Amino acid sequence: MADPAWTRRVLVTGGAGFIGTNLVRYWVRDHPDHLVVNLDRLTYAGHREGVQDLESLPNYRFVQGDICNAELVETLFDRYAIDGVLHLAAESHVDRSIVEPLEFVRTNVLGTATLLEVARSRWKDRDGVRFHHVSTDEVFGELGAEGAFRETTPYSPNSPYSASKAGSDHLVRAYHRTFGLPAVITNCSNNYGPYQFPEKLIPLMIANALEGKPLPIYGTGSNVRDWLYVEDHCRAIDLVFHWGADGETYNIGGDSERSNLEVVEMLCGLLDEISPNGHGVSYRSRIEFVGDRPGHDFRYAMDTAKIQQQLGWAPYESFETGLRKTAEWYLQNGSWLQAVRGREFESWLEVNYLAR
Ligand code: NAD
Ligand code: TYD
Repeated sequence: MADPAWTRRVLVTGGAGFIGTNLVRYWVRDHPDHLVVNLDRLTYAGHREGVQDLESLPNYRFVQGDICNAELVETLFDRYAIDGVLHLAAESHVDRSIVEPLEFVRTNVLGTATLLEVARSRWKDRDGVRFHHVSTDEVFGELGAEGAFRETTPYSPNSPYSASKAGSDHLVRAYHRTFGLPAVITNCSNNYGPYQFPEKLIPLMIANALEGKPLPIYGTGSNVRDWLYVEDHCRAIDLVFHWGADGETYNIGGDSERSNLEVVEMLCGLLDEISPNGHGVSYRSRIEFVGDRPGHDFRYAMDTAKIQQQLGWAPYESFETGLRKTAEWYLQNGSWLQAVRGREFESWLEVNYLAR
């Protein structure tokens, strides 16, 4: 049975992924009175190594399993008397969603629906419960050169990934409206920082640069993302989970718009400074422009006035300070990088690279 001493019992899904690892590490430290149950299927993107040291803590449990497994989710709700869900588990890579869209529909849509059903049945007459769904700015589609997404911007997803996340957002909204499930949604921009799997732009460029491989930039490199340091995102989730209003959505962004080419050039400059390649040649020389991603969204940017004004959140990290911290973390954690870059992953990179 659950220990009644815990003031909250939170189920984190996807807590062995990039944001999940950072969030779980943040949560057990900042909320020692909460029990944190981490449910993760450990797909190619999930790595127990990043949270293994937490297993000796009294307020942390790890469970390997699938959010689509209703029986397992029910058992966890009952065993730990779960009263909060931080839902992060997802297939999260746009390029993969172009290759295998159904995996995205399964986990992101069916998995979210499964969690919502269990929460609805277990929380029927309970107060003080909350379902927090972590989503993306990509549900809003793309922007031109001007403007920013607001919470009221109509959904217009363009990739199978963003369409599956939009589907999951709509389900959360519907469960709140129809069944009164206490739920909040956060939509955030591109995260970066420690423990990000090196298929995404920033860690892939760091890993490839250090291994002497090409740095592939899709199209002309003019696409723009709004970069959010993961620790800033964790603080925002904490605030919304505790102080956000039921049925509301909150945008989270880093106020750090950069084109992809700017990001990669900045990274090369940083690596030239902190880990020069020894031949006196800049990492910039490895930049290669490759074929574009189909349906590539041009620009994302977040208007974060709501969370700033209502909950007093703002990012601490500038892109310059956050990128430096990130590059330093990868340089100091080469063994983590080695451990997560398996053979299966190398062949995916090959396929993705050759497809362009
Ligand atoms: P990630 O791919 O690094 O991690 C996803 C985690 O979910 C992995 O640990 C994986 O094992 C787990 N998982 C996948 N399918 C599962 C299943 N069926 N059952 C249980 N666990 C499963 O993703 P991330 O970058 O950490 O993203 C976390 C969440 O934040 C996702 O919902 C994503 O859509 C959202 N998000 C991410 C970003 C970003 O920049 N990384 C931006 C906006 C929103
Ligand atoms: P990514 O990290 O995959 O995040 P998302 O597609 O969710 O924004 O990609 C960020 C940007 O970088 C996106 O515009 C695609 C581009 N990109 C490259 O140019 N080269 C790469 O090798 C990768 C992985 C991404």
